[in-house]
Amino acid sequence: ITYKPCDLVIYGALGDLSKRKLLISLYRLEKHNLLEPDTRIIGVDRLEETSDSFVEIAHKSLQAFLNNVIDDEIWQRFSKRLSYLKIDLTQPEQYKQLHTVVDVEKRVMVNYFAVAPFLFKNICQGLHDCGVLTAESRMVMEKPIGHDLKSSKEINDAVADVFHEDQVYRIDHYLGKETVLNLLALRFANSIFTTNWNHNTIDHIQITVGEDIGIEGRWEYFDKTGQLRDMLQNHLLQILTFVAMEPPADLSAESIHMEKIKVLKALRPITVRNVEEKTVRGQYTAGFIKGKSVPGYLEEEGANTESTAETFVAIRVDIDNWRWAGVPFYMRTGKRTPNKRTEIVVNFKQLPHNIFKDSFHELPANKLVIHLQPNEGVDVMMLNKVPGIDGNIKLQQTKLDLSFSETFKKNRIFGGYEKLILEALRGNPTLFLSREEIEQAWTWVDSIQDAWQHNHTPPKPYPAGSWGPVASVALLARDGRAWEE
Ligand code: BG6
Repeated sequence: ITYKPCDLVIYGALGDLSKRKLLISLYRLEKHNLLEPDTRIIGVDRLEETSDSFVEIAHKSLQAFLNNVIDDEIWQRFSKRLSYLKIDLTQPEQYKQLHTVVDVEKRVMVNYFAVAPFLFKNICQGLHDCGVLTAESRMVMEKPIGHDLKSSKEINDAVADVFHEDQVYRIDHYLGKETVLNLLALRFANSIFTTNWNHNTIDHIQITVGEDIGIEGRWEYFDKTGQLRDMLQNHLLQILTFVAMEPPADLSAESIHMEKIKVLKALRPITVRNVEEKTVRGQYTAGFIKGKSVPGYLEEEGANTESTAETFVAIRVDIDNWRWAGVPFYMRTGKRTPNKRTEIVVNFKQLPHNIFKDSFHELPANKLVIHLQPNEGVDVMMLNKVPGIDGNIKLQQTKLDLSFSETFKKNRIFGGYEKLILEALRGNPTLFLSREEIEQAWTWVDSIQDAWQHNHTPPKPYPAGSWGPVASVALLARDGRAWEE
């Protein structure tokens, strides 16, 4: 451990994000001896709790989410770090209590905003006015950072009044996923890919992020948001930037942010003129997931039966730069797909001529499949000769597969939140998003959202347990292509 001890203050410590993700990830960091011994965790919320009762709450949520597998020794160590402070975050005078629990002389204050974004401004102001912040302090925030460019700017402005950009850590938990980071290694450490990663050899790229779960009791949030803003504006565009960016000068946050912004700026706008041809909106109806019947979106608990929110999006994206000229990126993401599957498929071009006509009328092109979830790994689809002494050479499509868990048996694959929390404690901003990236992504997404609104594009129904409306298949079929199955 080579970082300075921190006081990690979690605002919204009793909320869902804290209980579901943050406390568990922190416990796991403890288990792997990655928490600096003097680092403390201070839960802040508005409910009348004490440090003792917060410790109990943390224990219960760990039990619930870790299926009761809590190591007593690790828990003893971990629980000693926890304390609680009651603050009503809308009351500016209450922030001064932070001085009683935070020690900015000895520790870096890391402020984790695990609350709804309407409170961000209050917290920034409260922290500033009570004088607890130093130049070393950091703040960590989560999506949704706004629901469009305007609201995102408002949040970023309020934050910028108090924190300098290099103190701000904006999380997209997909950037903590091992395979997303592996894209950097795959692309920039392997010459077979560095030289072939462009329009000369690649035909098109597909990015799929499907989840078999539905709305999980988050109807109110989701219905205002929809799949485009909830998943595509952030997670899918982030994956796309890693696949499409130019080689960064080095691995510093600045160099990587710069390359990602260039990609986002080169995304061809989708507007009223072409939105119907380039996008598909879907909404799930009742169906079956792994043989079990599940309700449709409009029948979920708390649903407004008139809702036209989309739970599925498919998009053809064009990147207007030298590298990707004429190479479409097809992205799709949906709720209630048959299973959880996140993958990137790089489809290489067909060979110009086929000398193996006995095996294939048309040779299947090579494919690189990068699996992000559920099992991290990389497959290359290629053609090989079938062993034998026949006069003719017979070919067969085969898979070279590299499963991360098999290959790196001794290395534990850390969860996205574990990795990102640790990086925030270490003070390494590389895996976080810059303000400019987020605003650029909103600019592109707003144009699609506005076009749908302008056209009153209704979502097309698809049964739960399928890969979206038929129109999603047609989106690729029009270009003579098909989704990877
Ligand atoms: C969140 C979205 O950002 O990502 C959720 O708000 C979604 O709707 C989740 O379910 C998916 O994350 P993961 O890591 O399970 O793919």
